[in-house]
Amino acid sequence: MQNFMINLSEDCDTIKLSPENLMDCFDCGDSDLNDFFNRDALLFQNQSLGQTHFMRHRATGKIVCAFSLSADSVKTFLLSGSRKKKVKDFIPHNKSLQSYPAFLIGRMGVATEFGGQGIGSQLLRYVRFFAMQKFPEIARFLVVDAYNKPEVLTFYQKNDFAFLFTDEKQERENLKKGADIDEPLHTRQMFYDMQRQE
Ligand SMILES: CC(C)(COP(=O)(O)OP(=O)(O)OC[C@H]1O[C@@H](n2cnc3c(N)ncnc32)[C@H](O)[C@@H]1OP(=O)(O)O)[C@@H](O)C(=O)NCCC(=O)NCCS
Repeated sequence: MQNFMINLSEDCDTIKLSPENLMDCFDCGDSDLNDFFNRDALLFQNQSLGQTHFMRHRATGKIVCAFSLSADSVKTFLLSGSRKKKVKDFIPHNKSLQSYPAFLIGRMGVATEFGGQGIGSQLLRYVRFFAMQKFPEIARFLVVDAYNKPEVLTFYQKNDFAFLFTDEKQERENLKKGADIDEPLHTRQMFYDMQRQE
């Protein structure tokens, strides 16, 4: 583990994945995500299925973290009354829609050597800034299919993401996976309102 503090926006360059700027040995501790960033992300990008960026520490040249974004939506017509209200809490009543534009954080990871030091939380704030700066007024929400693991769900909750569905049963019903099956969902849908007033 490295022994210096990193401020992502001041100490790192944001680099778009390209044939000239590839990631090849990024390790965030999750093999699926590693495979995606090191092998598949450019193929997805070439098919307009998501744009990937990584953040490289200027002083050491190390890749600190990476994320990929694509277009999505929060489909409030699928939600119960109280969940719908939670999503629309900060949106004026007369701007009510059936479905709200969103950026999907398709993948994100922090390199293991930089884990547990607040980089992931900084990255979520940076992604919000990045989305609003690069694509202003395009989308209201950030959404993520978060790994259904306590530490990952806590991570997003600590960063003000909320569950779209109250519980796994509701989410299963929506996904038509059968509400009675005990097997846990692999991911949980979570959202964040980029314009919410604190
Ligand atoms: C999840 C991930 C992005 C978090 O990044 P990070 O830089 O370690 O996160 P932070 O240091 O900002 O953590 C913030 C909070 O998340 C929780 N958290 C994050 N990782 C955790 C872990 N391994 N175990 C327990 N809690 C954890 C903690 O509650 C932490 O709060 P605390 O610092 O007050 O204890 C990073 O661990 C990662 O890349 N994991 C592998 C890939 C992955 O799971 N990506 C998410 C896919 S949906």
